[in-house]
Amino acid sequence: MGIVKNLFAGAWLLPAAYGAFSTSVAKGLASHADASSTTSGSYSQFTIPSSADFGAKLIPNVVDPEAVDAQSVCPGYKASNVKESARGLTATLTLAGEPCNVYGTDVDSLDFSIEYLANDRLNVQIVPTYLDSSNSSWFVLDEHVVPRPTSNHHASKKNSDLEITWSNHPSFHFKVTRKATRDAIFDTTGSVLVFENQFVEFVTSLPKDYNLYGIGEHIQQLRLLNNLTLTLYASDIGDPINDNLYGSQPFYLDTRYYEVNHKGHHTLIANDKADQSKNYVSFSHGVFSRNAHGQEIVLNPEGLNIDLTFYSGPSQVDVTKNYQLSTIGLPALQQYFTLGYHQCRWGYNNWTELAEVVANFEKFEIPLETIWNDIDYMHGYRDFDNDQHRYPYSEGEEFLEKLHSSGRHYVPIIDAAIYIPNPENASDAYDTYSRGHKDDVFLKNPDGSEYIGAVWPGYTVFPDWHNPKAGDFWANEIVTWHKKVAIDGIWIDMNEVSSFCVGSCGSGNLSMNPAHPPFSLPGEPGNVLYDYPEGFEITNKTEAASASAAASSQAAAAATGGAPPSSSTSYLRTTPTAGVRNVNYPPYVINNDQDVHDLSAHAVSPNATHSDGVQEYDVHNLFGHQILNATYQGLLKVDKKKRPFIIGRSTFAGSGKWAGHWGGDNASRWAFMFFSIPQALSFSLFGIPMFGVDTCGFNGNSDEELCNRWMQLSAFFPFYRNHNTLSATPQEPYVWESVTAATKSAMKIRYAILPYFYTLFHEAHTTGSTVMRALAWEFPTDPSLAAVDTQFLVGPSIMVVPVLAPQATSVKGVFPSLKHGEVWYDWYTQTAVDAKPGVNTTIPAPLGHIPVFVRGGSVLPMQEPALTTKEARGTPWSLLVALGGNGAALGQLHLDDGESNALDESLDVSFKVKGSSLRASAKGHWEESNPLATVTVLGVSEKPHSVRFNGRHVPASGVHYNATSQVLSVGDLHKLTKEGAFSENWTLNW
Ligand SMILES: *[C@@H]1O[C@H](CO)[C@@H](O)[C@H](O)[C@H]1NC(C)=O
Ligand SMILES: *[C@@H]1O[C@H](CO)[C@@H](O)[C@H](O)[C@H]1NC(C)=O
Repeated sequence: MGIVKNLFAGAWLLPAAYGAFSTSVAKGLASHADASSTTSGSYSQFTIPSSADFGAKLIPNVVDPEAVDAQSVCPGYKASNVKESARGLTATLTLAGEPCNVYGTDVDSLDFSIEYLANDRLNVQIVPTYLDSSNSSWFVLDEHVVPRPTSNHHASKKNSDLEITWSNHPSFHFKVTRKATRDAIFDTTGSVLVFENQFVEFVTSLPKDYNLYGIGEHIQQLRLLNNLTLTLYASDIGDPINDNLYGSQPFYLDTRYYEVNHKGHHTLIANDKADQSKNYVSFSHGVFSRNAHGQEIVLNPEGLNIDLTFYSGPSQVDVTKNYQLSTIGLPALQQYFTLGYHQCRWGYNNWTELAEVVANFEKFEIPLETIWNDIDYMHGYRDFDNDQHRYPYSEGEEFLEKLHSSGRHYVPIIDAAIYIPNPENASDAYDTYSRGHKDDVFLKNPDGSEYIGAVWPGYTVFPDWHNPKAGDFWANEIVTWHKKVAIDGIWIDMNEVSSFCVGSCGSGNLSMNPAHPPFSLPGEPGNVLYDYPEGFEITNKTEAASASAAASSQAAAAATGGAPPSSSTSYLRTTPTAGVRNVNYPPYVINNDQDVHDLSAHAVSPNATHSDGVQEYDVHNLFGHQILNATYQGLLKVDKKKRPFIIGRSTFAGSGKWAGHWGGDNASRWAFMFFSIPQALSFSLFGIPMFGVDTCGFNGNSDEELCNRWMQLSAFFPFYRNHNTLSATPQEPYVWESVTAATKSAMKIRYAILPYFYTLFHEAHTTGSTVMRALAWEFPTDPSLAAVDTQFLVGPSIMVVPVLAPQATSVKGVFPSLKHGEVWYDWYTQTAVDAKPGVNTTIPAPLGHIPVFVRGGSVLPMQEPALTTKEARGTPWSLLVALGGNGAALGQLHLDDGESNALDESLDVSFKVKGSSLRASAKGHWEESNPLATVTVLGVSEKPHSVRFNGRHVPASGVHYNATSQVLSVGDLHKLTKEGAFSENWTLNW
């Protein structure tokens, strides 16, 4: 048996007492004072010293040989006062011995409760009995921000899929069992519960070789490794592998495969024991830990107020839908245009350059839907304020008018932090700050002064989302600015929330504003980018050699440029003080991936204080979530009829209600192209289907081969954007001839299947289904697919098998379920794939070709590819019918105006093939005027005698049958569907 050990550093209920003016603030000032004379030679601006971002040196508990194992010293609890009912149980847990106070102060009395919320949903809570004691109030997550799961009044213990048992011997523990399999899905037997004011720990066992997914945000493979510490703490850091990242998603999916004997008895099987000749069933369940604190999940090769909700499935689809419908909310419905192609980079210098990029897309006839701006457009990196030399409002108005009339869109970045002007410089006034300051909506220090950190503009303040006026402030800024720049969506960045210094480093230093960040920007002296993707040294030998030489000399110069900055040499260890929380330096140190592991490094410090007294410590992981909500409400104020389009960096459980997400600052490396797939699939589980990564890579330079493969891969991701860092070589798809061709060929498919993509999004928005799917989810009875993340599905019908390695001309892929009669058709040849069940098949994939397959049994609604989604949306329809092994096929289409919130006019068409007959039935009031042009049927084994559309003969000139490929193509249908493809129900017979 394996063990999952959950170390929740910082319980969710914690005293919100105002601490002393923190050490981190004092440190920020001190390090500032010693470096304020340091002005960088090449910039007239003051540079915030890099030491300002150094925290105290800490050893994370998971790697600290001296760290005490709470399991070995803590007494655990005993349950008493047990009250059972048909819907659950309540009990009191009392400390079973002397408090251990190992990483905080033990809570002596807890309320334990079990509630059967629905027959497929169960909640377990453990909360301190005394929510208010004389010297502390406890912090409870706001249900408006993080909703609790809903309950169904029919639920009962008797009818639940799950059963929960508990025992006091040797100390309190509990076990959740799935009735159908008699298998424990969560079991704390053999461990003690530890519940302190800054530390909660419980241990559950897992089967050997478990299949766990989720627990974000991390860059990792889809199925979690058996030997991993997963830290959850929102961090502004460029995509390290396995470490904590921008968002916090405390949810996991656990899938188990069983062999069922003739008596119906289930035997759990280990993945490596799976046998292709046998039949299996799988049961999946999900667990949501409703906790926003920094936390760690330690997965060993052998396993919060606690608020756990179990979703019994039994399929991934059931779990994911249940999790969204009952708890976190359904994903936002996206506008149709957002599925078009997005181009971005850091370093588009002015409107003229932006216009040139757009013109280049037109010239090379590459579809472009949306042009994006990074922070270049801002006046001194201030939100809601354009640089009047490079991005003047007047020129912007002309640019946007032209852009919009071509059917295209514009989305700029907005950062979480707000510049605070230099009080000694009257010309530095900044209205956004003045308005927010007047309404008092910014985060505070414990002493009540404004908390002043540092981000791109220099010293900055941060909106306090607990302040009831902050949402209005933010919305008003968006509305005001929108009148000057007619944006079509917002890209929210730096919302972890990031700050480039420890503590309130700007307090007392505002006369230095505006200031340069405490590090050099890409392209600045000492930070010239010489990185290229693997394989560049083969394709571009000479350039690679000179880049490598230049990189070495840059590194050598840095080494002689003085001692590398370092924090103090000794480690800081915190011993708990009875009843007092140390929020800046909690006694249990999580493995936060910032340098030196300090929670205040590169983030707003945990002791920053909200208007209701709550410390950032308790809600750090929610900042990103709340700014996304505020931005959503702001865009509704701009236009209440339009669906807001938002892409955000830091997210929490439920952020999908408002925003999509991109993978953050990845690098132009092959590994990151691969990791984009598991990252997308994980966000499918988190209810954020609108996901994509910086195509061709952000950090470092990209190259022709990587960009060629990546532009093709991302064409099948919901959010399709190419983005690049400052000073890196350009990587727009028109830069290299082969990339232009590869991009156009993949986009031809994407733009043709936009109606399919959109239908999937509508379904996700209404039911909680996913858009990008793992093979294991669509084929749940095959244990060999449990870890597959090198290929994926878009909805149920399209499978993509991308090349993920340099210098390859083929790729290996599996074709699931062949032994059950599944048929797969090659997108390009339209013929059925000849492959063996369970065998990794070699698929030819020369550069510029991405293998795509259509699953038999599907009907795909398509329109013609075009340069914009608007243009594509105005073209005639076609249907691609891929017959399944049994000759049947099904499909769906959802249509509406593609942008409004009110969905009173929509059309839902269902397609059904039975025998040699395709039936299209439409419901709804949206009038679709585009006619139907062609229906292509794959897998037709015999030439049809005649083809009829609603009983009328289709002229022979419109019918083509290829006996070799078994493709039937029926054209000329627009004459029969002049009123629109779906204006009446119809049947096509062949
Ligand atoms: C588990 O991971 C740790 C840290 O990365 C490593 O030192 C150790 O060798 C790994 N153990 C196994 C069994 O893989
Ligand atoms: C815009 O930026 C480009 C590229 O940096 C530069 O060459 C050009 O002079 C700028 N044009 C204007 C009008 O500022």
